[in-house]
Amino acid sequence: MRHIEPDYDHDQDRWRTVVSVGERFGSGDVFQPTADRIVAEKLRPVLDIGCGDGRLPRHLPDDWPWVGADRSPTMLAQAPKPAVLADARTLPFPDESFGAVTALWMLYHLPDPETAVAEARRLLRPGGLFVASTNSRDDSPELRHLYSIGQVSFDAEIAPEMIGRHFDSVAVHKWDAPLVHLPDRDAVRDYLVGRFMPREKAEQAASTVQTPLDVTKRGVLVFARRLP
Ligand SMILES: C[S@@+](CC[C@H](N)C(=O)[O-])C[C@H]1O[C@@H](n2cnc3c(N)ncnc32)[C@H](O)[C@@H]1O
Repeated sequence: MRHIEPDYDHDQDRWRTVVSVGERFGSGDVFQPTADRIVAEKLRPVLDIGCGDGRLPRHLPDDWPWVGADRSPTMLAQAPKPAVLADARTLPFPDESFGAVTALWMLYHLPDPETAVAEARRLLRPGGLFVASTNSRDDSPELRHLYSIGQVSFDAEIAPEMIGRHFDSVAVHKWDAPLVHLPDRDAVRDYLVGRFMPREKAEQAASTVQTPLDVTKRGVLVFARRLP
């Protein structure tokens, strides 16, 4: 199954564009519901796999024990501390050392995401919570005629079953709603760039789109429990 090749060490502009599009034109993300659940259940410490530049910890209380892990030195340099340079499939922590383990918007970068899911289970204490998010292969249908990421190694259609093979109970929160409002063609271009379309092609594609455009977002946030 195809994975999405990480570009964070050679195209930070694309990542900046993703974040900026979300902040300017999106309505919410998975970070607040994930942080709320961690705090409500007093799950400490948190291991944030593929932490990037640290969007999740901004939603946690300041003193909440959090550890980041990421394979990109460029992203890690911008993340809060402590954060370690490590691959999601072999993490340098003892068994059962975390109350929560998250893998938000990252498992589709792996050709073998299930190895990382198994690793997350190893690191969780009994009773601990694993949280992962991803898009549906039918995300953004209004722009499907211009681009499609297609089926990838960890999408909403695959995620619950894959996680269920390693965890004892799995709850899936789905969304399917016009959550992104693109006011003009520049916004459409930025949205497409964030979705891995080369800039020049995105500029040209955006010029064919009627704006404003509401984009339907489809995906899942999966909460999985390691039972005692
Ligand atoms: C889309 S970003 C998401 C970052 C963060 N979780 C967020 O939602 O803001 C994906 C992150 O996963 C990291 N990543 C990709 N493959 C990885 C791997 N095999 N092990 C650890 N991190 C990885 C990338 O370096 C990048 O920081």
